[in-house]
This record gives sequence, structure tokens and C-alpha cells, in this order.
Amino acid sequence: MDKNFYVTTPIYYVNDVPHIGHAYTTVAADVLARYKRLAGCEVFFLTGTDEHGKKVEKAAGESNEKPIGLADRVVRRFQDLWKRLSISNDDFIRTSEERHAKAVQKFFLTIQERGDIYLGEYEDWYCVPCETFLTEKHLVDGKCPDCLRPTEKVKEESYFFRMSRYQRPLLDYIASHPDFIQPESRRNEIVSFVKEGLRDVSISRTSFSWGIPVPGNEKHVVYVWFDALVNYLTAIGYPDDRERLNTFWPAVHLIGKDILRFHAVYWPTFLMSAGLPLPEKIFAHGWWTVDGEKMSKSLGNVIDPNQVIDQYGADAFRYFLLREVPFGLDGDFSHKALIHRINSDLANDLGNLFSRSLSMVNRYRGGKICKPERLSGIDEGLIATALQVVKEVDHSMGEFAFHQVLSSIWKLVGATNKYIDETSPWTLAKDESARDRLDAVLYNILESLRIVCTLISPFMPGAFEKMKEGLGGDENVNSWNLEEVKSWGRLKTGGRIKTTSPLFPRIED
Ligand code: MSP
Repeated sequence: MDKNFYVTTPIYYVNDVPHIGHAYTTVAADVLARYKRLAGCEVFFLTGTDEHGKKVEKAAGESNEKPIGLADRVVRRFQDLWKRLSISNDDFIRTSEERHAKAVQKFFLTIQERGDIYLGEYEDWYCVPCETFLTEKHLVDGKCPDCLRPTEKVKEESYFFRMSRYQRPLLDYIASHPDFIQPESRRNEIVSFVKEGLRDVSISRTSFSWGIPVPGNEKHVVYVWFDALVNYLTAIGYPDDRERLNTFWPAVHLIGKDILRFHAVYWPTFLMSAGLPLPEKIFAHGWWTVDGEKMSKSLGNVIDPNQVIDQYGADAFRYFLLREVPFGLDGDFSHKALIHRINSDLANDLGNLFSRSLSMVNRYRGGKICKPERLSGIDEGLIATALQVVKEVDHSMGEFAFHQVLSSIWKLVGATNKYIDETSPWTLAKDESARDRLDAVLYNILESLRIVCTLISPFMPGAFEKMKEGLGGDENVNSWNLEEVKSWGRLKTGGRIKTTSPLFPRIED
């Protein structure tokens, strides 16, 4: 297994405050990063903000601010939210930082030296909300085909990148790296797009100034998407720190389906030209609607993640985002669905299992973890399920199938609940001759909880801490990592459990 792992989220525009869509990618990336750390990898997890471009400049103008003033204000909203959501990013990049301007200019010059940049004139359409160049034939009633908002006519001097040169190399690369663009439906979409032909793309603007100057021609600022994509290199030391670059590059990019073309066509061709390896993987997830409707400011149904956290807690929100919808497909957010998940999966299945287990150990053994002397057939069944679940989790994680990972973990939760019902510790407790049997049963329940606790840690860091504390923490378990859940019986005997408050209180609808 590769010991280094680099995962990124898109960098978010600062013209808008964070919503559930931003939270979604960031939580997914956090889960991957945490899981890889659990597996012993050296992880670098990056998120940040995209601060240049016409859209941000315009938004700043509308609120009578300088673009950097707007950025400084909004960036805090993102950073505060990531703290509240327990996001474990290793760096937070802002494209207005000096280190980034340096990287973008170097990247531009490198491509220029390859003969892939020329000066020309751009005359066509532009969508400011999407920061996209559009041709007349793509417009829908004069509007942007993606966001359906008005476009503007642009006629200005511009630098172009010879993307047309890379059509064949890109198709060959995609064909020989089947996992490069995921899910498969998205890869097919990109292949058909590239097959239609790649046109050279405009990579600079002259009609406004909020951006990074083109090296050698300060009349131009670098096109915001060119600028933004390079963030993935800046943060790992490009251009100066080659060692760090080689350690972490290439990255896994998690993105939403709307920005796939920039990541799966523009970015790889820029990288080919600059002589750098292509990303390891680009995974495009689906979009959230809210109560069946598109989320939009005008409909007033934008979900503020802060409010969801206030109401239900960060863990429950994280769980819901990744459990409710297969990563890659579109999904629908509703309070009803969220409450249902909390009450049934979290409060009922896991929360009750945890509290009834601890209370039995307290009641029957004074909180002591006793040694299991002998195993019976039913115990072997539970052990087999646990070890099987650990394998399934690893497999599904490799496919970014987070909902599947959680559903596997819940198989063990269900099996443990069933084990309790079938072994009936309360009956054993009444029978003095069943002393050893009760010791073994209680141990197996706790051991199963130890495995569940470790496996849920990437998804629900808060619940992990609480469960860990309940199981007696580091005194009873050497290490809470993946290696330790590959075998049964790692929970030490002789120690004690601790009483904790309920993991997930029920929500009254
Ligand atoms: N700044 C660019 C990204 C540059 S990356 C080099 C950008 N920013 S964004 O703030 O507009 O959007 C960031 C992400 O939010 C995108 O991946 C987009 O898919 C995601 N989402 C926006 N609305 C969404 C939903 N309703 N549902 C799920 N994700 C959504 O694009």
C-alpha cells in the first residue's frame, strides 16, 4: 500500500457563505483522510478558498468592499464551520496568498516555455457565476447552459492554452487508467466530450484586475480557473519544495459533478504540458436538493450547515451526509430524513447497544472487563461477522462507497444487538453456574463495540471519543487503529469500563 496519501476538496468561492454542498465534499474528504491515517498512512488533506475572479470582484463591489476585504470576512465563515464539523485538514489555502501567486506564475511560465501558450483575442460569451467561457452555440436562449443565468459578451486580448494538442494524449491516458475519473458514468461523459475535439482555451483576462498578474504582461490577470487549479500544487510546496511535491503528488481530488470538466480535462492537460504526473483520481459526487427542490437563494431554501449542527450535532450531520446517498449520485436533504436516520441508526441501533452493554457490565461485573475462558458457536459467529465487516469496510472505502462502509459497520451493530438478545445475559446472571459464560458473553459484546468504535471514528469523531472513553480508553486498548481491528481479542481484561452519557439522544419529531 502507498504510505502517502493526498486528498483535496475544491477551493470554495468567497462570494457566498458555506452551505450543505460545501460541507458535503469537505466531510467526505475528511473521512478519507481520517481513514487513511487510521491505516497508518502519511496524509495531507487540503481545503481552502478561491478568492480571485470577476465573480468575487463583483460581489465585493455590490457590498461596497474591496475584494480582499470580502475574502477576509467570508474565509472565516468557512474556517469556523470546518472547526465545528471536526474537519482535520492539514492546510487551508487561500488563493490570495503570496505563495500561491508565485506557484501560478511559475506554472504559467513552464507551460509557456513548452510552447503551449500564445497571445490572441477572445471574442465570445462568458458566464460570471460559473466563471466559464462559452460559445454562441452552447447558449440556451442567450443564457448559460449550466446555471441558466445571463451571460456577457467578451471581446478582449487573451492568452490561450493549446489544449487542442492534448486531445489524443488525454484520451489515451483515460483509456489506460480506468479509475482515473470516477464514477464510471462521469468518465464516459468526459470521454465523449474530449472525443468531440478540444479547442484551445483562454487563460487570461484584461477587463478587470482582481487576479494574479500574467508574468511579463501585467495588463492581464490569469483566468480564475487556471489560478484555482494550481492551488493543489501550491500547498505541497510547488515550485520550490520538490521533495514535498514528490512525496504527496499526485492527489485524489473530490469534487462536485458541475466542476468535472475543469478537473478532468483542463487540469490534466495543463499538467501534461507542465510535465507533471496527472492526479491519482478525480471523483465527482452528485448534488443535493432540499425537500425535492433545487437549492437556491431565490427559493430561500439554502441549508446552513451551522443550523444543522446546532439542531442535531456535527456527528449526526456527518453521518447523514454520507449514509443517506451513495457517493456519486444526487440526493435529497430533508429534516424528516435526517431525524429518521438519527433516531433509527444512531439513537436506537448504536446508542442503545452501547448504553445497554455498558450498563450490563456495570450491573453484573461492577464495571470490570473479565476474561473470556471459552468460546461457543454463537461467539464464533459474532467474531466472523466482525472480521468480515472490517474487510468489507476496507474494500468499500477503496471505492469511495461511504454509504456501503456505514451499512457494513451497522451489520456488526445489528449482529451484536442480536447476540445480546440470543445469549440473554440477564438470564445468565441469575445462574451461578453460568458465571464463566457470562464473562465471555460480556467480553464479546465489549470487544465488538471496540471494533465498531474504531471503524466509526473517521465518520463521527465525537462519538468515537465518547465510546472510547466508555470502553476505558487507552488503558484497555493499545491502539485505536485499523491494524488492531483486524484481530479479535485486543480489548485487555482486568480493566474497567466507564459510565458515559447517551451517545445519541432521540430527537422528538
Ligand atoms: N471555486 C470553484 C472550485 C475550484 S477548485 C480548483 C467552485 N467553487 S464553489 O464554491 O462554487 O463550489 C464548490 C463545490 O460545491 C463544487 O464541488 C460544487 O459541486 C459543490 N456544490 C455546490 N452546490 C452543491 C449542491 N447543492 N450539492 C452538492 N454539492 C454542491 O466551484
